[in-house]
Amino acid sequence: MNTLAERVYAVGVQHWDRRLFDELIPLPDGTSYNAYLIKGNQKTALLDTVDPAKTSELIDHLVQTGIEKLDYIVSHHAEQDHSGSIPDVLLMYPEAKVVTNPKCKSMLMEHLRLEEEQFITVEDGQELSLGDKTLRFIYTPWVHWPETMCTWLPEDRILFSCDFFGSHQATSRLFVEDEPTVYEAAKRYYAEIMMPFRSAIRGNLKKIESLDIRLIAPSHGPVYPRPSFIMDAYRDWISDDVKNEVVVAFVSMHDSTRRMAEYFTEALASRNIRVQLFNITGGDVGKLAISLVDAATVVLATPTVLTGPHPNAAYAAMLVNALRPKTRFVGLIGSYGWGGKMPEQMTSLLSGLKAEMLPPVIAKGYPTEAVFTALDELAETILNRHRQAGLCQ
Ligand code: FEO
Repeated sequence: MNTLAERVYAVGVQHWDRRLFDELIPLPDGTSYNAYLIKGNQKTALLDTVDPAKTSELIDHLVQTGIEKLDYIVSHHAEQDHSGSIPDVLLMYPEAKVVTNPKCKSMLMEHLRLEEEQFITVEDGQELSLGDKTLRFIYTPWVHWPETMCTWLPEDRILFSCDFFGSHQATSRLFVEDEPTVYEAAKRYYAEIMMPFRSAIRGNLKKIESLDIRLIAPSHGPVYPRPSFIMDAYRDWISDDVKNEVVVAFVSMHDSTRRMAEYFTEALASRNIRVQLFNITGGDVGKLAISLVDAATVVLATPTVLTGPHPNAAYAAMLVNALRPKTRFVGLIGSYGWGGKMPEQMTSLLSGLKAEMLPPVIAKGYPTEAVFTALDELAETILNRHRQAGLCQ
């Protein structure tokens, strides 16, 4: 059994072959649902459970610890990948109480149909003694839902952060060993799950900064033995700083829009702007999400299908809009055959972004010299915007 400290056990489960989360997020490296068992000299607590698909493995792990009695199940977050096995654990240990905040309790009652009397609710900063070990609950809303919280174990200086600081990775290693690999996975996770809540995360980071943390134990991915590694990464991602980068994401049916996107990519690169070009159709939206964390500018490119954007481009626009990147400038390029309202519809789909919408470049049919000239002008406009923002010379 893996241990983080004396009588602090990792009892979660790896889900090596899961390939999609929330029917949306690609999981190239699978994921894990981390749960932790803490045995005090008087009471025992389980911190989170696992996805219902893996309940039996969690139960096996609990049996291996040899516990006969469980006093508490701490629920940091009501989402079912952490809470979904609570009903089965309660069947096994009916005397256990679910410990959580009032908002999470309400959500657990709705999602899992638990009963009122099965809960103990705790306030922000409240402590619960297990005897020689103490659980202190820290409200950290919006990492990922509004009810999320963390637990601080002062005797062992471990922060149990649930989704906060997580990474979707199945691994046989309990602790982070290869920081660059974990950095990529954690950035992908941040982009897909945390990015819309940047300002809330800022407050939550401040709240935990005064703790002398030895380990950060999230509920996805390996445990951080060097907490500053992931905390510094978060400080960078949530800052208002953007980079001299443009994300160009395109869909093309008959190569008109592709030709424009590729030409435009070269026009930007020749101006010493870093560009990432994505074909949306069949692409990894996780990679697209990662690129949105730092880019100053996003440009979407789509042909017109019937009267509007290609549905795959509309999906990308909705995703960008929902993820709320700190992007400062947004561009639109594309093509049409005979008419339609593609630019208006794409602009509307991106209306949640606090960014300047640059003039679109739209071709009728295959791009002409005039269209390429307009793309050069758009690239020059972006260069000037980046210069004015102090991102390049
Ligand atoms: Fe890992 Fe928001 O659940």
